Amino acid sequence: MEGWEAPLLIKSDHGRSPPALESVPVTETTRRFRAAAVTSAVAAWALVAVGGIVRASESGLGCPDWPLCEGRPIPDSDRTSLIEFSHRATAAVVTVLVVLVAVMAWRGYQSRRDVLVPALVALGFIPFQAVLGAIVVWLELPGWIVGIHFVVGMVFMAATVVAAAAAFRNPEPLATVGFAMLARWALAAGFALVIAGAVVVSAHADEACGKEWPLCNGSFASGGADAAAQVVHRLLAYTVAALAIVLAVQAWRGLGPRLLGTLPLLAVVAQMTFGISLVLVGQGSAHGPLAVLHVSGAGTVWALLVALAVIAVPSQSAGQPPTLS
Ligand code: HEM
Repeated sequence: MEGWEAPLLIKSDHGRSPPALESVPVTETTRRFRAAAVTSAVAAWALVAVGGIVRASESGLGCPDWPLCEGRPIPDSDRTSLIEFSHRATAAVVTVLVVLVAVMAWRGYQSRRDVLVPALVALGFIPFQAVLGAIVVWLELPGWIVGIHFVVGMVFMAATVVAAAAAFRNPEPLATVGFAMLARWALAAGFALVIAGAVVVSAHADEACGKEWPLCNGSFASGGADAAAQVVHRLLAYTVAALAIVLAVQAWRGLGPRLLGTLPLLAVVAQMTFGISLVLVGQGSAHGPLAVLHVSGAGTVWALLVALAVIAVPSQSAGQPPTLS
């Protein structure tokens, strides 16, 4: 591994260094490590999407036992068993990839805590998430534990994305301090939005507003607690959309990475379209496919916000155009 040390001393506009990025010694990652880290992050995203297929097709109890499926390692050809089994098989592939990335990071990047720590955190999440998945099956899918399993899955995926994005981190500043702060706010709002979405699903509040958008049962938010949960989800989606617009505009003005600064907006627009369509179609035949698109879209929005927050290393003083290489 070709190594070089470039201590990054990043100062905010007040002359203070943001704690997480202070004096980061940067050892360049190899192409092989980057490929492994990106593959593991993409696989973690696929796991979220396959989890969405399991839920939308109501296959959560397709394998009523765990870790076996109908008493065997590989189930018969029953549709729901195969769908649930595909989730477990994807989880097995993800596990192999996450272990591989953690071992590579441990052996090659002890000095790159920004890479090593998320790689180890992702590894630590695997047994935890597997046990949660088992509890989901044993308790026969109560909404609250399904929601927790989903949110923990998104945090796990975020750890794989952080490791992958950090491996690509440029020692040159890629954003102004303002842009980097905005990216972190968008990340925080995105996480709140993911949790609110999980609450909507756990509470079976997907139809709580009727087939209405932008209104909810004829007014802003009438229909009780379930309708309120869905309206909170909608409001958080609008907040993330507004932040994504500002990030994209700033990225195009040269204050942050142009491509990665724009992608969250594109993903949010698609995701809002899926979410609104879900509400408007109600329980029609398009509901299942739209629900899968909405979960996959949520994973995409979330992954892009995480990657942007990691990559947007601030330049030394606010308002300075970033050095884009
Ligand atoms: C950036 C925008 C959005 C994101 C990131 C997002 C994210 C999510 C997430 C993570 C879930 C939980 C999925 C699951 O556990 O299976 C969810 C569910 C849901 N969201 Fe969104 N959402 C967004 C926008 C919207 C909008 C604008 C609406 C409606 C106007 C909406 C309506 C719904 C509904 C109805 C559900 C329940 C779906 C179901 O029961 O399968 N979402 N959303």
